[in-house]
Amino acid sequence: MIEPADRLNIVEEYYFSKKLREISELVAKGESIINMGIGSPDLQPPSQVVEVLKNSLNDEKAHQYQSYRGLPELRKAMTDFYKEQFYVRLNPETDVLPLMGSKEGIMHISLAFLNPGDEVLIPNPGYPTYLSVTNLVGAKPIFYNLSEDNKWLPDLEELESQDLSKVKLMWISYPHMPTGAKATKKIFEDIIAFAKRHKILVVNDNPYSFILNGYPLSFLNIKGAKDVGLELNSLSKTFNMAGWRVGMVLGKKKNIESILKVKSNMDSGMFYGLQKGAIKALKSGTIWFSSLTSIYKQRRELVWELAEILNCTYDKNAAGLFVWAKLPEDSSNSKDFVDLILKNKGVFITPGSIFGSQGEGYIRFSLCVDEEVIQEAINRF
Ligand SMILES: Cc1ncc(COP(=O)(O)O)c(C=O)c1O
Repeated sequence: MIEPADRLNIVEEYYFSKKLREISELVAKGESIINMGIGSPDLQPPSQVVEVLKNSLNDEKAHQYQSYRGLPELRKAMTDFYKEQFYVRLNPETDVLPLMGSKEGIMHISLAFLNPGDEVLIPNPGYPTYLSVTNLVGAKPIFYNLSEDNKWLPDLEELESQDLSKVKLMWISYPHMPTGAKATKKIFEDIIAFAKRHKILVVNDNPYSFILNGYPLSFLNIKGAKDVGLELNSLSKTFNMAGWRVGMVLGKKKNIESILKVKSNMDSGMFYGLQKGAIKALKSGTIWFSSLTSIYKQRRELVWELAEILNCTYDKNAAGLFVWAKLPEDSSNSKDFVDLILKNKGVFITPGSIFGSQGEGYIRFSLCVDEEVIQEAINRF
């Protein structure tokens, strides 16, 4: 038996990987399970995107290795998108790098900037990948608590009462997953000043900007952000293209070059057809966003109804692909609460504690479920 590397001792199998196996077993036994856990968009991408992908397959260079930096038209489409949607000016030649989803960017950025022992500020609650990747590269996670009382925004004063001398990187993610909290320009300005004071690279992971959010905001829109930070974005949720694996990292040339140094040693370019489709998607315009919003709004109304049946409370102003709901005071912990509902009603909801200890006492409903199916979940209660 060949022993796996020591680094695997500090990462666990992803919660969903285990839970979805359990759900598949229940389904195989004939149970009807409604999965309201996962944030994988069930809707189709813009139809013209799929057409472009199909039509690209006979292009002369369609099946060759592609550039490590992506097609120039793709980089241009990405920076044009940032200009139109966020009023952020970026140079397509130097300030953007297409990625295979933003998730891989979390690894590339960590490999590019962290040495073993460097400390990393990670939101609690937050996307679990920040923690696992930090552990995989041998850096040290330092959690910073977010709470409903502080609108799920970082408490920078509290952070500054700690020794930050070894902190090299800070993950933020607004609109925030899992809570749906939105950042303000003011908090971004404060974070930039904080990052300058402590020489910390800030990365805003921003895949939910266009989901149920009237005012999409990029961290890079704020003065000074490019000096201290980067932004990750993705077509996964914005254009229902999660399986395509198309994302991007944006920021100043020097930082992008460091990430390219890692990435160019790990893959050999993104499939041509995907890049062509992504270019088309990025040009979809505002009609696309309004149609997406109207579908998610209707679903959210029903999910709110379900949350109320479960005596949960929630914030009607939240953005993103989920409803983050607070369990009643007298309820069990979130994992037990969710397991009981799965057992008794065949409905799977995500327990808040998988996003960190500050997520305990909450559950997360996905909006990637058809209205009829949400109605069926309501009926089961
Ligand atoms: C906060 C956050 N960041 C990144 C990702 C990864 O998205 P992508 O599909 O772009 O890799 C997700 C996916 O669920 C997410 O919730």
